Amino acid sequence: MFGVGLAFVCLCFSVVQSLPPDKVSAFHIIKTRSIDLNTAYGLSMENRLNKAVQPTNYRLELEPYLEDAVFKGHVKINLVWLLDADEITLHCAHEIEITETEVKILGHNSDRVDTIDIVKQTMDPKKPVLNIKLDRIIQRGTKGFIVFSYNGNMETATTEAFFKTVYITDQEVERIVAGTQLRPTNARRMFPCFDEPSYKTPFELSVVRPKNMIALSNTPVAKTEEITGEPNAVWDHFEKTPPMSTFTLGLVIADLKQLGNSTVVTDDAGGKMELRVWGRPEFLPALEGINEKFVRVFTEISNYWNSSLPIRRMDLVALPNYQGVKPADNWGLIVFKESDLASKGYLQLASELTYQWMGAFTTPAWWTDAHLNKALVGYLAAEIAFKINNGSEMEGKWPMTVLYSLYYEFSKRYPHSRITGMKQETTCTKIELLFRMFNLTLGGETFRNGLRDFLEISKYKTFHGDDIWYALDSSAKKDKKVAEDISVRSIARSWTDRDRLPLVTVTRNYDAKTAHVTQKVFLRERPHDVPDADRMLWFIPLVIARSDKLDFTKTSPVAWMKNQKEHDLKDLPNKEHFIIVNPEEIGPYPVNYDQDNWNLLATYLQSNKRNLIPELTRAKLLHDAWNLAYAGELSFATAFNMTLFLKDERNHIVWDPVFTMIDHIGRHICDCIHGKFQAYVRALLSPLYEELVKNEREDEENWRKNLRSHTKAFLCQAGYKPCIREAQEQYSKWMQAKNPDEGNPISNQYICPVFKYGTKKEWEFGLQRVINFPPSRKQSERTYLLKTLAGCPVEEYKIMRLLNITVLEGNGNFTETDIFLIFSMLTGAPQGYTTLFTFLKNNWDVLKEKFHSKTNLWDNLITSATSQFTTQSGLEMVSSLYVSHQGEFGSAEHIIEKSMRNIREEAKWSHENIPVIEQWLDKYLANVDIKEEQFIDN
Ligand SMILES: *[C@@H]1O[C@H](CO)[C@@H](O)[C@H](O)[C@H]1NC(C)=O
Ligand SMILES: *[C@@H]1O[C@H](CO)[C@@H](O)[C@H](O)[C@H]1NC(C)=O
Ligand SMILES: *[C@@H]1O[C@H](CO)[C@@H](O)[C@H](O)[C@H]1NC(C)=O
Ligand SMILES: *[C@@H]1O[C@H](CO)[C@@H](O)[C@H](O)[C@H]1NC(C)=O
Ligand SMILES: *[C@@H]1O[C@H](CO)[C@@H](O)[C@H](O)[C@H]1NC(C)=O
Ligand SMILES: *[C@@H]1O[C@H](CO)[C@@H](O)[C@H](O)[C@H]1NC(C)=O
Repeated sequence: MFGVGLAFVCLCFSVVQSLPPDKVSAFHIIKTRSIDLNTAYGLSMENRLNKAVQPTNYRLELEPYLEDAVFKGHVKINLVWLLDADEITLHCAHEIEITETEVKILGHNSDRVDTIDIVKQTMDPKKPVLNIKLDRIIQRGTKGFIVFSYNGNMETATTEAFFKTVYITDQEVERIVAGTQLRPTNARRMFPCFDEPSYKTPFELSVVRPKNMIALSNTPVAKTEEITGEPNAVWDHFEKTPPMSTFTLGLVIADLKQLGNSTVVTDDAGGKMELRVWGRPEFLPALEGINEKFVRVFTEISNYWNSSLPIRRMDLVALPNYQGVKPADNWGLIVFKESDLASKGYLQLASELTYQWMGAFTTPAWWTDAHLNKALVGYLAAEIAFKINNGSEMEGKWPMTVLYSLYYEFSKRYPHSRITGMKQETTCTKIELLFRMFNLTLGGETFRNGLRDFLEISKYKTFHGDDIWYALDSSAKKDKKVAEDISVRSIARSWTDRDRLPLVTVTRNYDAKTAHVTQKVFLRERPHDVPDADRMLWFIPLVIARSDKLDFTKTSPVAWMKNQKEHDLKDLPNKEHFIIVNPEEIGPYPVNYDQDNWNLLATYLQSNKRNLIPELTRAKLLHDAWNLAYAGELSFATAFNMTLFLKDERNHIVWDPVFTMIDHIGRHICDCIHGKFQAYVRALLSPLYEELVKNEREDEENWRKNLRSHTKAFLCQAGYKPCIREAQEQYSKWMQAKNPDEGNPISNQYICPVFKYGTKKEWEFGLQRVINFPPSRKQSERTYLLKTLAGCPVEEYKIMRLLNITVLEGNGNFTETDIFLIFSMLTGAPQGYTTLFTFLKNNWDVLKEKFHSKTNLWDNLITSATSQFTTQSGLEMVSSLYVSHQGEFGSAEHIIEKSMRNIREEAKWSHENIPVIEQWLDKYLANVDIKEEQFIDN
């Protein structure tokens, strides 16, 4: 609808746990890393260095003074001139103080060294770019070098660039840690350099370290050298690295110990790699098992690529007090937060190790190509984690939840209009799923060979996005996995070029055993008035599962829809057998069928053969059905029929979309059938919940715990008495506390049920806690309380009272932000926005006066009070307000007009769907056995 409403309108009780997938931010397989995405898009705007010279080697010496967090540096950069030029431009942070610069060139046979005079050396005042003007033009092809001596400060506020941090040991001793995180463009803060990924050069690093610490870098130490007159420190000279980008250079100086012994792994390609794990001595016990895990994941990944890295050793470091959101993934030296390295699961390690190939061995040419890199790493890491522990750590979130969030976002009228920061993430998720689609449709081997070829071509170099698609294409053509007239790149482009997904509709002809397949853009929110919708077409793989030859391992398409609106399928089964198009969500698109095929599916799912359809496909059928009904593409009776099998379903992956369904549909339908819908929810959930409670165990899996708490939260919301009683009992502890404002002794999950079903007195107590909330306590607790006070109640009294106090009486304990929050929360349920509407209507003059100079609040009020109605009677209410105050809406004039247009659309939907829903619910409720005495009706 409108761009209003906070993203978290869901009133589910445990706001954290129970958010439907479209309300939580996407499950990030890979936490955003700074080279990627947001920063990457900012960085893409960066000026690129002129290409007059190119570095061919760095010889870098660092003398850190750890106590003072400063360092001296000396760097010699070998250069070759690519153009005739009399200047050299390179990166250098403003904080670096250069004390000496020298430029020299070599004679033809390197027999002579000439010093070139520097006319002028200037720092760009706005950019970290250093310009050195020479006294003459140097001919293209000349070789030479530039040398800088300089002083720098170590970063102490964050753990980026060349940083110093301290930690306190258990014995209360303060210890210093130094390290680097040079992604994305922090190398220039450590030394003057050509800080762009495409300049891949060898590095020779030397560093002074205290004798009681160790220094780790990308390569082993070649030589350690005493320093005359300095008994406590030595020089470590590291071996020369392979050619690499500046940001992959790494260094750690700390008091670390190795965990257990090194392991030398020989990969399939014959390469040997020594694997080691490091941490501070006290932390090593927490790292127990990491060596084995490292070997396991490393072996898996190196054999996937079958291309040995040109480094001999790889270190994982748990660095005390390292604060980066992401590990510092230097080549051969990956620096983790202690808790990250110690954590269970394989996903993060798999992605970090994958970056050693896709990121370090080959590197995106520019920051704009980084999202493809991230997506491929994300995909491979997920697959590898799956292979190792069957995806248990992802608990079905991948690929499912991430895919569902794409379905919701891309079917909006204006994708990404609410949270712009999400755009990069969803784009990346989509590409991850495209890689999955290609792996499944081309076959694992063809896909892997394509990637291997890609790496072979681009190792030691940088690549552009399309290079991956081209490599996959040649592999696919070689193995005859796609026809000559389509290319992997055009397939990929049809999915990446826009923030939309297709809906495929399959209409079978049972006599002819054929089916007519069409595609169009998938739109859920009304009105479906997207410009150019007709011209959007995708290359879609049509993979089919059929009940006469049930086989879900066959994932290659029987046909590709080649950018065409229609396609005909032949040789389908007879009318006793269903077909499933796009099983296992092979492509990221929903599928609609004719009524008969849906019925065949519904019947089959209710039979004892249900489990022959894998859970991801069962979930998809259910998810597609209700989303299509929600979108107006399918009868709700059919969609609800697809939920009947849930009475026997116990798989959490299949249940997951059910909670979203309850939330979305529950919020969309009018008050008029809300009671019946609630009864349906209870009938659906109570058998599951009772069983989950009966089988509760100490050592149970996480998914079981989550499923139980979700089920409970939703049942509670639907008026399940035992849960409400429990909530009230807990809440009473707070009410009896001597100083209730000191803190809230009860868990958040109990608050919403009490505000919804509890007494006015209980609710009022909560209100007083917000009013008296001490500034010293965490404000997020106050916000949570205020959100639930506004969003949970269904009684008009409570909502009116809140509006009276905060808006009419202007109680000074509430800020404008609070009022925004209240309005937004009220849009989440019919009782909320209807009461807000009444409040607006009754207090028109007062409110108009009050918000006279607060256009934002006024606009927000009009939006929240008018935009959410979905019925004809709602339309009449809003229209009559519009008519009676015509000309008085001011800045919100266009808002209410837009509301009316939208409600008109929604009212059509309601007119068509509500009777169908009601009829289905009536029939259903007449036949199920619900212990209604266990429920409060509302
Ligand atoms: C490490 O290697 C040494 C020498 O080979 C051996 O004695 C020791 O038991 C090993 N330690 C572990 C933890 O495997
Ligand atoms: C891996 O690479 C090596 C050497 O390049 C080759 O001999 C071997 O056959 C490859 N293994 C696989 C499984 O492709
Ligand atoms: C790719 O597809 C194959 C099936 O062809 C599957 O076994 C494999 O797990 C998938 N993933 C990867 C990374 O190969
Ligand atoms: C729903 O299922 C019932 C029986 O299970 C069937 O009679 C009815 O036709 C189905 N309705 C729709 C719209 O598919
Ligand atoms: C809210 O204020 C109005 C007008 O001041 C009053 O009539 C109404 O009773 C109040 N409602 C509540 C619940 O406080
Ligand atoms: C906060 O609310 C209390 C009780 O309603 C009231 O007495 C007090 O004046 C309010 N504080 C401010 C700053 O308005």
